[in-house]
Amino acid sequence: MGDGIRVAAPCKINLHLGVFDRRSDGYHPIESIFQMLDFGDVLWIDSLKKRSGIELHMGGAIHMDVSVPPEQNIVYKAVRLFQMEQGDENGYYIHLEKAIPLGAGLGGGSSDAAAVLIALNQISGRPFTNPELESLAARLGSDVPFFIRGGTAYVTGRGEEIETFSVPTPWAVLLVNPGFHSSTPEAFALLDRVRAEAMEPAKPLRGRDELLQMLNSHPGNWTFYNDFLEVFLKRGTPEVQQTYRNVLLELKNFGADFINLSGSGSTCFGVFSDPERAKKALITLKSRWPFVKLSFPLARRADTVVE
Ligand code: C5P
Repeated sequence: MGDGIRVAAPCKINLHLGVFDRRSDGYHPIESIFQMLDFGDVLWIDSLKKRSGIELHMGGAIHMDVSVPPEQNIVYKAVRLFQMEQGDENGYYIHLEKAIPLGAGLGGGSSDAAAVLIALNQISGRPFTNPELESLAARLGSDVPFFIRGGTAYVTGRGEEIETFSVPTPWAVLLVNPGFHSSTPEAFALLDRVRAEAMEPAKPLRGRDELLQMLNSHPGNWTFYNDFLEVFLKRGTPEVQQTYRNVLLELKNFGADFINLSGSGSTCFGVFSDPERAKKALITLKSRWPFVKLSFPLARRADTVVE
């Protein structure tokens, strides 16, 4: 392959996720703390010398739906967007090793897309600055810009306003996915419906300073929440309600200092200040749920590797 590069596409969790009223463009403003984790997908990208086109190969433990045309894959869309904006006629070979569950609130597709933009920018001699890459990323999806930066971030707007922090994160994160997918547009629609029926306004903004101060305190004291979780526990299907209750209770019983849902689901997580407890929880929960992963916060993105 020669000048191909390997790029990591780590997942994220939302430690906190407040959702506000739908804007006229259909998106909802959010207020969130995003945390990148040291677990994720890996992509190998190489240019197809003197050939155009996109060759996308998939591997890994998580299987994509093969009935979906490749053009609808966000990885494919990221390549096309880069080519269009850069006037790039090179073809690309991409191998995606998928480890992040799909429809899981962990930002798997968004991270893959960001990884593609970063890698193609490097292969092409860095025509775009990082802020320019973030603008391109926002055109691919609301969560994609965060993955250009990584680390720990206070995120507002529809996901494109990002402020990163350098904070100590001395805890482990146990991810538990119950095995069903959760659709983001459906979750937003359910939240709108539940609030409209109950005539319940969105909660007020917590504010960057309050959330940052909390992040610096012991996870046992965190009062972060996820607005989607409250809606699912009240108005999800009986299976969804019961499953989230069970997973979160098990994480709590195993000594998690803080529990929550990531994004619009379906992955629940526990934050453990004691990694030994997290390891014990991993062993038991692994036999009970289809996807359980012990991971740790990443303070910044790993560099790409030339292979
Ligand atoms: O931006 P993305 O394509 O990931 O969003 C998928 C869908 O989720 C949007 O079409 C919209 O319905 C909903 N969404 C939203 N507010 C956000 C992000 C996503 O309503 N901040």
